[in-house]
Amino acid sequence: MNKRMNAMEKQPTRRGFLDWLIGLCSVVTGAALTVPGLLYLWPAARGGASEDVEVPNASGLAPGQSAILQVRGKAVIVVREQTGFTAISAVCTHLGCLVKWDGSRKEFLCPCHAAVFDKNGAVVSGPAPAPLPTYRVKEVDGKVYVSVA
Ligand code: FES
Repeated sequence: MNKRMNAMEKQPTRRGFLDWLIGLCSVVTGAALTVPGLLYLWPAARGGASEDVEVPNASGLAPGQSAILQVRGKAVIVVREQTGFTAISAVCTHLGCLVKWDGSRKEFLCPCHAAVFDKNGAVVSGPAPAPLPTYRVKEVDGKVYVSVA
């Protein structure tokens, strides 16, 4: 009798299976909600190494002209000045529109809400709350590279 009772206790029950299934669903749901959030935050948290990306046809730019390119998913404007190149984010700090370089005014203009930034990215006027981030530029063997982290 005692042996039979032990055998019955070890048999899986419907309730035990349902408890296990609810636990499994809870873990899967928790992972499905948590993992995307962690993956979203991961690149920002670790910073990442910077990447040098060549600016195509940079030598073809005359002083005052600009080129826009995408580096690691970021829009960057490269401006040729008399003494070299500068690289600055093309994304307005107000609501994220793409700014344009106006070579005659030597300013970046946002077409959305008329923010104006000087050649270093500082806010001159308009609703932009912060300056445009700048990026490191280097010239190696006649080629121009923008470094973005
Ligand atoms: S998005 Fe540039 S001024 Fe509003």
